Amino acid sequence: MKRRIFATTALPYANGSFHIGHIMEYIQADIWVRFQRMQGHEVHFVCADDAHGAPIMLKAEAEGIAPQELVARIGAERPKYLQGFHIAFDNWHTTDSPENVELSQDIYRKLKAAGLVYAKPVEQFYDPVKGMFLADRYLKGDCPRCGAKDQYGDACEACGSVYAPTDLKHPYSTLSGATPVLKTSEHYFFKLSDARCVEFLKKWISEPGRLQPQVANKAKEWLEGNGDKALGDWDISRDAPYFGIPIPDAPGKYFYVWLDAPIGYLASFKNYCAKQGIDFEQFLTDKNTEQVHFIGKDIIYFHTLFWPAMLHFAGKPYKDPDNIFVHGFINVSGEKMSKSRGTGIDPLRYLSLGMNPEWLRYYIAAKLNSSVEDLDFNPDDFLARVNSDLVGKYVNIASRCAAFVTRRFEGQLASELPRYFGVGIDPAGLIARLQIASPEIARLYETREYGKALRLIMDFADAANRYIDEARPWDVAKDSHRSEDLQKICTAGLKLFHILTLYLKPVLPALAERVERFLNVAPLSWNFGQDLLNHRINKYEHLLNRVEEKQLDALFEIEKEPAKVTSST
Ligand code: 2FM
Ligand code: ZN
Repeated sequence: MKRRIFATTALPYANGSFHIGHIMEYIQADIWVRFQRMQGHEVHFVCADDAHGAPIMLKAEAEGIAPQELVARIGAERPKYLQGFHIAFDNWHTTDSPENVELSQDIYRKLKAAGLVYAKPVEQFYDPVKGMFLADRYLKGDCPRCGAKDQYGDACEACGSVYAPTDLKHPYSTLSGATPVLKTSEHYFFKLSDARCVEFLKKWISEPGRLQPQVANKAKEWLEGNGDKALGDWDISRDAPYFGIPIPDAPGKYFYVWLDAPIGYLASFKNYCAKQGIDFEQFLTDKNTEQVHFIGKDIIYFHTLFWPAMLHFAGKPYKDPDNIFVHGFINVSGEKMSKSRGTGIDPLRYLSLGMNPEWLRYYIAAKLNSSVEDLDFNPDDFLARVNSDLVGKYVNIASRCAAFVTRRFEGQLASELPRYFGVGIDPAGLIARLQIASPEIARLYETREYGKALRLIMDFADAANRYIDEARPWDVAKDSHRSEDLQKICTAGLKLFHILTLYLKPVLPALAERVERFLNVAPLSWNFGQDLLNHRINKYEHLLNRVEEKQLDALFEIEKEPAKVTSST
């Protein structure tokens, strides 16, 4: 049955450029989306900038520009990265958009009507110079326990004790240096602790196949709470000045950025629907529609508690998310990456060095699985994997067979496969086994076990090379009586290459397109429709370069100007 899927990745904050962690998530989701489309399913894949919140407001202020200008500037640089790494979102939008205002206010009103929103006074530190309430990260002071200076409002880095911001001695605002004062203001809360929410979430979380086991366990723990850390209600309002969406009928109050951020998934989708002529409400309310979100492990809390509860109790046309697919972080050579600093790999630098984006797609895919474990980018491993798997195994099959077909047969492939005499590898048998592996490889893509899928595919690439080693087309070519044998051997090799390309296409879309041109076939989808027997191919052109060590050296040599290195195809 044809599936209808609405897929997203987490919305990146609009105050900084992409780092390798973003690119990894997009690659993971993009592979899944491309795979679904090759299966013939309908998939709409969107993202947006997460524009609101105090950090963006303050950064813009520091630059002397409006937050909208900052968001626009960051938004303008997104396509370079996305096109560069072949990440094919259908739409890129922003949470600072009319669609998001409309949807956020609508969802809020519906939650309020359902009795799940209430107001209550909250006492908080306030910066009298800046004229704004201070989130914990903008507060520092002396540790109440050990007296260490300049400690943050929640915990001491010197002695490790944890406390409330009001416990700090000599507190000061990191924004102005002023001594903050306590001030009370009315806040709005989403009643997550309501019995209806708890009951719904229990069921939603434990639905088989919905969440990865580790994620479901975490969510259950939070939901059930323990002692002092019982499930709390969620403070969804912030006081002016705040860059956000106004709360209806509450002058001077804005939605906390984490309320309107996930609604931004829907805002981007709605914006896309309008451009595409898709009925947004009809799509969401169709009982066959699947809504899936790819996210990192740091934002599970929002996506497994608040988000499903908000959608569920807002009611139609909103639908409960079907899956939250969580991945771990990417470390570089074992070094943890920080959200603000990123890591040693700057994605744009990677591209500007002429490094092939599909090397990175392949390497990341080879390391990904369905767990939430972190993965490590290791430069030596990267070089070895790409060169040995992609160039040494996969592309090698084509380059060993194609030249003979062009030179000796004007591109014409044989009308039958070589006869098998019972010794070594039977090419027809190998082709059949490769085709029979299709459901297993599909299952691995479906479950995001990309590493396993690629290992299986590369085992077949190994077998294909062994077949060519045994058949020795280069020797056969020297015997003028064995012209037909040569043509058949090369045909078998290219048939294997054709199917391997199909299986690799979700990971290597641009390379697959070049192969489609070379093999002179229609765009590959997940079936074996077109047979290469008796078919004419185009001239073989070089498909993929090897990674060179000096490129990796240049990638990690941050201080120097981008070195000119040979560009790749
Ligand atoms: O953690 C982050 O980078 C957030 N900007 C993610 C938001 S995801 C969604 F809720 F919008
Ligand atoms: Zn301390």
